[in-house]
Amino acid sequence: MRILSVVGARPQFVKLAPIASAITGRAEHLIAHTGQHYDELMSDVFFRDLGIPAPDFNLGVGSGKHGAQTGAMLGGLEEILEEAKPDCVLVYGDTNSTLAAAIAAVKMHIPLAHLEAGLRSFNRRMPEEHNRVLTDHAADLLLAPTHVAVDHLANEGLAAKTVLVGDVMTDVLYQVRALLESRKEPLPLDVAPQGYYVSTIHRPDNTDSPSRLRSILASLASLDRPVLLLAHPRLVSLAERHGLTLEQGSIRVCPPLAYPQLVNAVLNSAGVVTDSGGLQKEAFLLRVPCTTIRPETEWVETLESQWNVLVSEDLSILADTVKRPAPEPTDAAPYGDGHAAEKIVDALLNFNAVSGRK
Ligand code: UD1
Repeated sequence: MRILSVVGARPQFVKLAPIASAITGRAEHLIAHTGQHYDELMSDVFFRDLGIPAPDFNLGVGSGKHGAQTGAMLGGLEEILEEAKPDCVLVYGDTNSTLAAAIAAVKMHIPLAHLEAGLRSFNRRMPEEHNRVLTDHAADLLLAPTHVAVDHLANEGLAAKTVLVGDVMTDVLYQVRALLESRKEPLPLDVAPQGYYVSTIHRPDNTDSPSRLRSILASLASLDRPVLLLAHPRLVSLAERHGLTLEQGSIRVCPPLAYPQLVNAVLNSAGVVTDSGGLQKEAFLLRVPCTTIRPETEWVETLESQWNVLVSEDLSILADTVKRPAPEPTDAAPYGDGHAAEKIVDALLNFNAVSGRK
C-alpha cells in the first residue's frame, strides 16, 4: 500500500513524526509539504528534531489570504497526486493544508483518511472548524482521537467510517518527555524553574483586532511572574501592524521553540496561557495548569478539575485564573496510551484491504 501524507503547518509536523515511524516496514510512505509554514523555526527544525524523513514533494505555497492559499495548494497537490498515485491520502488536523489535500484527493477519487477526525469547537468563525467539518465529510476513513470525537462523528451520520485510535500528539509528547529525563535542556531566557508562565497567542480572533490584542497583551503583562511569550510570526507581524509592543510588563518575548525545548519549557513552568489547541492538551498531559484564551475548546477533556480553564471576553479574570490553586490530581488518560500511531497504521492497512486495493 502506498500512503501519501500531506502536511504544511507546524502542528502537522508533530503529528507526522510518529506516523512516519510507525509506517516504516509496513507500507510505502510519501510525504508532501505544502509550504504553508516555511520559516526554519516553524518547519525545518521539526523535521530534524523529530527524525521525520525529508518531504518527497514541497509546494512552497507560503502565506496568503485563506482562499488564495488553499487554492494554490489544491492546484499543486493535484499534480503531486497524479505523479505519486497513492492508494490513500492521509491528512492531518484542521489547517488550510488539510482542506486543500482533502479536496484534491476527493476530486481524483483517491481514498482519503483524516487523522484527528471529529473534533468540534462548534464555532464556525474559526477557520479550523470549517476545515475540520468539510474534511470529515469528504473522508472515507475517520481516525478519531477521543470518545467525544467519535460521538460528534456519529451525530453527523459518519459512524460507519469512524475508528477510535487515540491521539498521536500524545505519542510524541510521551517519547520526548522520556528523552528529557536523560537529557538536560536549558530553559529559554534563563528563567527559573516554576518561576514563569509559558504563553502563545496566534488565533485570528485574538490577534486580528488591535483592541483585542492590546487587551490580551496588557493582561499578560500584569501577571505575577515572567511570561515567556513564544511569538508566532502571525503575532509578531500583527502586533507591528497594530503599533503594539509585545515586550511589556511581565512579558518576555522569545522566538518559537523547537518541540523538545517547548516540552521542557512547559514541564518546568508554573502554568500555560494560550489559544493553541495542541498546547492546551500538552499542558494537560504534563499536568501543568493551563488557561485558554478562547470561548470554547475542542479538547473538552482538558477542562476536568480545572486543569484547563477558558477565559474569553472578560480578561479582567485572567490574572486570578492563572494563579488559581493547584487542580486536583488526576490519572485520566482520555487521549490514549501513547500508541495511537500503530493503531492508525493498522486502520489504514485494514481499510485498504477491505476497499480492495493492494
Ligand atoms: C495555521 C493553522 C492553525 C494552526 C497554526 C499553527 C490554518 C487556517 N491555520 O495558522 O490551525 O494552529 O497554523 O501555527 O491553516 N508565517 C510566517 N512564517 C511561517 C508561517 C507563517 O511568517 O513559517 C506568517 C505569515 O506571514 C502569515 C501568518 O504567519 O501571515 C499566518 O500563517 P498561516 O499559516 O496562514 O496561519 P497560522 O496562523 O500559522
